[in-house]
Amino acid sequence: MDLFDMRRNFSLKTLEENEVLSNPIDMFQIWLKEAIDSKSMEPNAMTLSTATKDGKPSSRVVLLKQVKTEGFVFFTNYESKKGKQIADNNYCALNFVWHELERQVRIEGIAGKISGEESDTYFEVRPEKSKLGAWASPQSQIIPDRAYLEALNMDYNLKFKGKDIPRPENWGGYIVKPYLIEFWQGRPNRLHDRIQYILTDNGWKIERLAP
Ligand SMILES: Cc1cc2nc3c(=O)[nH]c(=O)nc-3n(C[C@H](O)[C@H](O)[C@H](O)COP(=O)(O)O)c2cc1C
Repeated sequence: MDLFDMRRNFSLKTLEENEVLSNPIDMFQIWLKEAIDSKSMEPNAMTLSTATKDGKPSSRVVLLKQVKTEGFVFFTNYESKKGKQIADNNYCALNFVWHELERQVRIEGIAGKISGEESDTYFEVRPEKSKLGAWASPQSQIIPDRAYLEALNMDYNLKFKGKDIPRPENWGGYIVKPYLIEFWQGRPNRLHDRIQYILTDNGWKIERLAP
């Protein structure tokens, strides 16, 4: 395996200042739809980076579940490692990579919890087994073994048998409200296109970055 020799010359598309929309969330919606149409695997999967109060970062993949005019929504356990980091430091970053389109989107923003009612709306449409999983998993905590998790799952299965499964209090959504969004389009010979939006007092400012 020779990683030194492994590279791809990007040539599918271009990204010009005169073709981008003035609002980056509208622009994101177009790119997301194109990623879905391109049969990209898990097009709504994004890397979420959070950090501790003193700036030690950590990343993991979560699923984008809603794009609102104000930001990007995902769901998780509020007591997980990411949940604790967001409680201490609400700055975070999101990253999408759509290899089929040779595209990347980078987002920087501020995370906050969505309302309990909004979280309920999504929880209600989840499959029953996912609902039980939300109850059974003490996400990010150390557990003795797999059997422990399966026993917890079984306990909740019995507890809620024949009943509606409510949303656990410690499970719900966050919205990341962006102040920076960058659209990256791979181009030949590493001369890629990068268009960055930064939120200013006068709205979104659009600039080109060197690749
Ligand atoms: C494709 C993919 C999608 C995922 N989606 C979610 C998600 O939407 N919410 C979530 O809490 N974890 C999701 N996970 C698991 C997270 O990556 C992570 O393991 C978990 O949230 C615990 O992270 P933490 O300990 O940093 O809080 C996903 C993982 C993958 C690979």
